[in-house]
Amino acid sequence: MSSSNPYPEPDVLKVSVLDKDSIIFGFHLTDYMIRDILTNIPSLSYAIITDKNIAPLYMQTITSRFDIISDELFSNKSIPTKPRLITYVIPPGEQSKSRVVKAQIEDYLLSQCCTRDTCIMALGGGVIGDLVGYVAATFMRGVSFVQIPTSLLAMADSSVGGKTAIDTPHGKNLIGAFWQPKRVFIDLAYLDTLPKRQFANGMAEIIKTAAFWDEKFFVMLENGEQEIQNAATNKDGGVEYQGCNLSTRTSSQSLLLSVLYEAVKVKAYVVTHDERESGLRGILNFGHTIGHAIEAILSPELLHGECVSIGMIKEVEIARNLGYLNQVAVGRLYRCLQSYGLPVSLDDKKVKDLVGSKHCAVDKLLDIMKVDKKNQGDKKKVVILTGIGKTLEKKATIVSDEVIRLVLSPAMKVKPVHESSFPSVRDITLVTPGSKSISNRALVLAALGAGVCRLKGLLHSDDTQVMLNALQKLGGAKFEWEDDGETLVVTGGGGILQVPNTELYLGNAGTASRFLASVCTLVQPSKLTEQNKHTVLTGNDRMKQRPIGPLVNTLRENGCDIKYIENEGCLPLAITPSSIGFRGGHVSLSASLSSQYVSSILMCAPYANEPVTLQLTGGQVISQQYIDMTIAMMKSFGIETERLNDNVYKIPKSCYRNPEVYVVESDASSATYPLAIAAITGTKCTISNIGTSSLQGDAAFAVKVLKPMGCNVVQTDTSTTVEGPPIGSLSPIPTINMESMTDAFLTASVLAAVAKRDSNNERVTRITGIANQRVKECNRIAAMVQELSKFGVQASELPDGIEIHGADISALKSLADGVNCYDDHRIAMSFSVLACVIPGGAVINEKKCVEKTWPQWWDTLERKLNIELQGVDIEAGNKNSLTALFEIGRKRKNTTPGKHNTTIVLIGMRGAGKTTLGKLASNVLKRKFIDADVYLEQSLNTTIDDYVSTNGWDAFRTKESEHLSTLLSQYPTDYIIACGGGVVEREVNRILLKKFIDEGGKVVHIVRDIEEVINYLNEDNSRPAWGEDIRNVWNRRKILYEENSNYEFNCMNITISNDLVTSNVIDLEKWKRVEADFIRFIKFLAGEDTNQVTDGKRSFFLSLTYPDLTVALEHFTTIMHGIDAVELRVDLLSDQSSSNSSSYHPPVDYVAQQLYLLRRHTHLPIIFTVRSQSQGGKFPDNKEKEMFDLLHYALKWGCEYVDVEIGTSRDLVTKLIRSKGHTKIIASWHDISGRMKWNGDEVKEVYKTANDCGDIIKIIGVANELNDNFALYEFVASLPSDSKPIIAINMKANGQLSRILNNTLTPVTHPLLPVAAAPGQVSVHEIHSARHLLGILPKRNYYLFGTPIKYSMSPTIHNTGFAVLGLPHQYHLFETDNIVGIEPIIESEDFGGASVTIPYKIGVLKYLDEVSESARQIGAVNTVIAVRDKDNKRRLVGDNTDWLGIMYSIERALGDSNSSYQESAGLVIGAGGTSRAALYALHQLGISPIYLFNRTLANAQSLAASFPSDYGITVIPSLSEPLSSPPQIIVSTIPATADVEIPKEILKFTEITKNKMGVIVEMAYKSRKTKLLQVAESFGNDRWIGVEGVQVIVEQGVWQFEKWTGCRAPRNAIEQKVAEKYTA
Ligand SMILES: NC(=O)c1ccc[n+]([C@@H]2O[C@H](COP(=O)([O-])OP(=O)(O)OC[C@H]3O[C@@H](n4cnc5c(N)ncnc54)[C@H](O)[C@@H]3O)[C@@H](O)[C@H]2O)c1
Ligand SMILES: [Zn+2]
Repeated sequence: MSSSNPYPEPDVLKVSVLDKDSIIFGFHLTDYMIRDILTNIPSLSYAIITDKNIAPLYMQTITSRFDIISDELFSNKSIPTKPRLITYVIPPGEQSKSRVVKAQIEDYLLSQCCTRDTCIMALGGGVIGDLVGYVAATFMRGVSFVQIPTSLLAMADSSVGGKTAIDTPHGKNLIGAFWQPKRVFIDLAYLDTLPKRQFANGMAEIIKTAAFWDEKFFVMLENGEQEIQNAATNKDGGVEYQGCNLSTRTSSQSLLLSVLYEAVKVKAYVVTHDERESGLRGILNFGHTIGHAIEAILSPELLHGECVSIGMIKEVEIARNLGYLNQVAVGRLYRCLQSYGLPVSLDDKKVKDLVGSKHCAVDKLLDIMKVDKKNQGDKKKVVILTGIGKTLEKKATIVSDEVIRLVLSPAMKVKPVHESSFPSVRDITLVTPGSKSISNRALVLAALGAGVCRLKGLLHSDDTQVMLNALQKLGGAKFEWEDDGETLVVTGGGGILQVPNTELYLGNAGTASRFLASVCTLVQPSKLTEQNKHTVLTGNDRMKQRPIGPLVNTLRENGCDIKYIENEGCLPLAITPSSIGFRGGHVSLSASLSSQYVSSILMCAPYANEPVTLQLTGGQVISQQYIDMTIAMMKSFGIETERLNDNVYKIPKSCYRNPEVYVVESDASSATYPLAIAAITGTKCTISNIGTSSLQGDAAFAVKVLKPMGCNVVQTDTSTTVEGPPIGSLSPIPTINMESMTDAFLTASVLAAVAKRDSNNERVTRITGIANQRVKECNRIAAMVQELSKFGVQASELPDGIEIHGADISALKSLADGVNCYDDHRIAMSFSVLACVIPGGAVINEKKCVEKTWPQWWDTLERKLNIELQGVDIEAGNKNSLTALFEIGRKRKNTTPGKHNTTIVLIGMRGAGKTTLGKLASNVLKRKFIDADVYLEQSLNTTIDDYVSTNGWDAFRTKESEHLSTLLSQYPTDYIIACGGGVVEREVNRILLKKFIDEGGKVVHIVRDIEEVINYLNEDNSRPAWGEDIRNVWNRRKILYEENSNYEFNCMNITISNDLVTSNVIDLEKWKRVEADFIRFIKFLAGEDTNQVTDGKRSFFLSLTYPDLTVALEHFTTIMHGIDAVELRVDLLSDQSSSNSSSYHPPVDYVAQQLYLLRRHTHLPIIFTVRSQSQGGKFPDNKEKEMFDLLHYALKWGCEYVDVEIGTSRDLVTKLIRSKGHTKIIASWHDISGRMKWNGDEVKEVYKTANDCGDIIKIIGVANELNDNFALYEFVASLPSDSKPIIAINMKANGQLSRILNNTLTPVTHPLLPVAAAPGQVSVHEIHSARHLLGILPKRNYYLFGTPIKYSMSPTIHNTGFAVLGLPHQYHLFETDNIVGIEPIIESEDFGGASVTIPYKIGVLKYLDEVSESARQIGAVNTVIAVRDKDNKRRLVGDNTDWLGIMYSIERALGDSNSSYQESAGLVIGAGGTSRAALYALHQLGISPIYLFNRTLANAQSLAASFPSDYGITVIPSLSEPLSSPPQIIVSTIPATADVEIPKEILKFTEITKNKMGVIVEMAYKSRKTKLLQVAESFGNDRWIGVEGVQVIVEQGVWQFEKWTGCRAPRNAIEQKVAEKYTA
């Protein structure tokens, strides 16, 4: 629109409202509009009010055109004066519809001296329209008003009708007026820039209008989805001012225009007939009664149209429940809304992602509806549809609260028949939903046939709808609905088909894709159409992964021209008509994969050029019964197939002759439920669309199950009648194999649950042959056992079935928390059968899950089967369908909150390290480890190889899936499970993993470089060879691993520091680092140690600004002095030497490599930041998706912190937060413009948004003067004390003060870094010095109390630390003979703390206010800390760091050697004060037993006796005595001079364990190599690791330092100084 060319004269449409032609439609109406208002609404001033989103897009064009046109009109005297145009811009969004903003606009108009002679123009969405309209209505008692709607919602709805309003805290639209605009200019060109979600939002109102008013209009929307979306984005644009006049208007533009035109016409008609809403206008409120209530709770996360969309579905469900509307109509509305991207349920994943923990309680919704302005008294009114385009009344209808509650409730209470208030009905006849397989076949056959066929009882589901749409687009046949959608009249096309205009989109409908692939090859080439036209079959992403290769191969071999558009073997396909078409003759097809391929060929075979002989190859034919079904149905349509032998069929060349009527048989599994209700309640029920002629296995349920249980069963060809015995007298069936009707086992189980004793006094039913039910929607066998047991019914799992003990009905318990359905429709329906007799009834949770096969089940249950129902709400977050699946067998209640012990599953290539790392994880987390392959072999009782060679791959894979399902459901917590490498290859497994993840499970993809894997596997001869090149396997699986895991750990063999020898596998030194990193990773995942900075602690992070971290490695330890976290600036990373291109962003692999490099060199928490260009970084602004992809990886990699910019799309942010696990989100905002004021409104808004999504808030402003820092300080100080941590800083040199004052995670630089990450950044050293100067970091004195202490290393340790970090403190020696000497010191104000040594470790106690737990247990204090609270009140706390020194020295030593010490024994030599710390440390490490030796036995005994018995301390009289478990860890606390013999026997540990090392900690430090260390060395340096006394001293000193200062000690600097002093 920015073009300077004048607009062409537009072609417009007009609609009149309240008898004025005031609504004008078209494209690019700017000039037209300006001329129109200047001439027809003459005013002195024109004021355009718009919002901040729209102003930059359109205002400039409008003002400049206004100028030019008004000049022109004035000069040719069409207008008497040249008017002025003023503009005012307000913030976008619903918040602006407020009294405040209204007043601002009014003040602005007044300040501009606007008078009555002003025309106010609202340019924007509904917010602008409503608000500005209300201003116009009251300004100077009402002035002229023009609507220029820019959002689809405003065009279709809010701009028409004259309702204007603002919101108040009490509710939306409560204050307002009716004020009709003089004109409404609906200029569809504005839609070009409207965000997609906003477009869908407007579509909701349009679909609404069609749904209650006009079926033809609705059909237009149903069929036009793709084109309408195209028009909005002007996809096929290219011409300037496209669509302005008819000559440039595309067909999609015309369609979009007519859709809007229709919607507005309806609204205008309604408004004209009932302006002030006394009746008819209420009809516009369809979907809004419930929609508004939802909106009241979920706004602003959900938009108006989105709430109305959900509201419409709920309101048509009310109509369906009341019996006014059938499922066909509900289904059509549902699919139509969905196809425009609108939510149809509060449970939609998208909705949940958006609204987070907000919840719509049913009571709350009903309460809100009570105060709706449109109600009549407190009676609620809903627009009741009786069909698409038809309503019960020409207004809203009163509906009872019970019905509304029933429909809104997520759970359903089923009342037992004997407590029901319904009159009893004993004989019921019912038609149950059609079979999906038969419906799909019938559609294909009737469309290809000749003549008219009335299809009755079709299933109405997504799948059949997709099939129907596709057949419609292929032309030839005609489809019409009769009897309100009960009957589909198909006028067959006799096999004449044409290339459709658009691609055939099949969603995820598998059957349709297989059947249509063959059907499309029948399309004849047309002379009229261009040569290379072809049919495109496509679907959603899932569909594009489902195989279709074997079918396509066969078709290609038979002359069909089919190409894969994307991936070989999958949709999308391009099918080009060829003159031969489908050749026919001998056709061979592999049928071991899917019977649908066979049915597809069979159904099309009659239309081949030659009669077809179909030969099925590939061994065992799968699902023969479906092939039989196809053949039988073809016969009903006049074509007989001959079966020549087992796998060869002959089909004549012919054309189907359509039968007049074809009744689609019921889905046999669905039919079992009403029949079972008759059985359990002792009533009679006839299903009139299934009988003995059925080919579905479940059709035999009545005869094979109900009859033996004591029911009277009568079956005809096409109907089934069951009459149950009196309640409580069903018989058990001792054993029944249900292999041919596995889906019906659940129905049988609930009946068996109430079986009486039979003549043999038996009451048990055993159902077998149903093993496949373990891998359905959930593990149905386990679920059944679990849920039945809730009622008090005993049941247990059999290897391939279930065993159920019948119980007395009167003894059954009604459950408080209801039946969990595991999102499985069959569980819901079968338990509603059982509930019909449970005393007190039963609540079925997740009632929605029945929608999969029988959406109207509950209505049928209540209205047709006469069972009383009641809607039940469950607490927010209490139950969610998926949570339930894996709760089976889980002891949820035993888990302490905050302890995250969900099982961790490892997947990845064979040889990637799953088992090794799995075992390590099991050690570290103290959980059990299961290797799925081993588990499988154990339960198969043979090796995998043998099993495969006897039973084949298919059987093996099925077993594998069953076991995976069992593993996940039986061990959902406290385990580590390593899966076989091929686990992701099967869809069922992937579904299981996804569900596991969805409900909070953790699946880790273990990645290892494929070349290394190959090397490794080549060395490992214990495994069978691969049948396939491993690289191919990896390429295929990589994405599957990635998609089915929520974490990723890379064993990346990166070069670390100085390269060591590299073997062709992986060198051990590196592997140790990998393991250390893995330990951190797994502890993080499990929440055992999230490695994050403690909240409230003053902390710093260092920003790494390198393009490649490798260069920084040599300085790593030094630059991280005093740092608490490191920031990886991902946007600055670059794998290219010169990456100056502004569109460059680092590839994921490179980022991973850099991250792992960092991980291998530091244990500090990592902040993963991708800073965008507009926020001061380098990441391209237009690559938001790529940015979030990286952020998601950061979560997968277990980064401790992820920085997210709040200016990015809310949807993306919300999605990210959903999967954050233990990662903390830093919600950041950088005011690059420098205009944000810390005392202004913008920062408040920024803060609010950041606070909504972050765990930590980061707001960065700019200081132009020093004062800006004080404003910042006040802003932070004004936040409530329990606010989230905030990083608030001003950039530039002027802002340095803010860095000095900031508390949490202050970003710092280091002199050795190449560049600072931001202007004004300072170092830790500088911050400390500055804080000291400012007086907020006063100098403290620290001391060592004891005697003799002359040679102590402590002053070196601490004073080095203070100096390196710029702390002003000082450490002194204070040697005294009398403890009293310390009194003046500790009383002095600047006392910071002290180290305490012999002889005062106990004597110091009396000066302390408090003693730590460890110091108390050890019975000695070696550290005193002066702790000051906010008011500077001081407490003296006694602590002990000796044990920390010992413990961490051991961990460090063994951590580096990578041998674990779980279940190891320890030894402490000596019984003095230090021994107590040593015993305590070993106990903390989990060492047991702990041997204790002392020369004076009695001292050892009394020391041992002073510790609790669970320490497992065993006193040994001599060191040469043989021990049952030789110690791996030895701590010697005796002086180096002590004369203790060290026998070699005591070091036996490393003799008996070949691959583990031992540790000796020597506490004596005056000489380096004590006797003990010398003996240990004689074993060789790869056996015992010696820790010298001085190392322990440094270790404990570092802890002391951190406790005193709260800063991380600069360890390497300290070590260096100590070493210098020690050797000096
Ligand atoms: N008066 C009525 O009869 C009536 C009927 C229905 C709804 N409403 C009211 O309408 C409001 C909702 O209207 P809305 O959905 O249009 O909200 P809106 O005005 O907030 O617009 C939605 C968003 O889209 C942006 N936008 C609008 N047009 C754009 C364009 N062409 N390009 C880019 N961005 C654009 C806006 O800036 C805004 O961020 C609600 O307040 C509702 O109560 C009123
Ligand atoms: Zn609305």
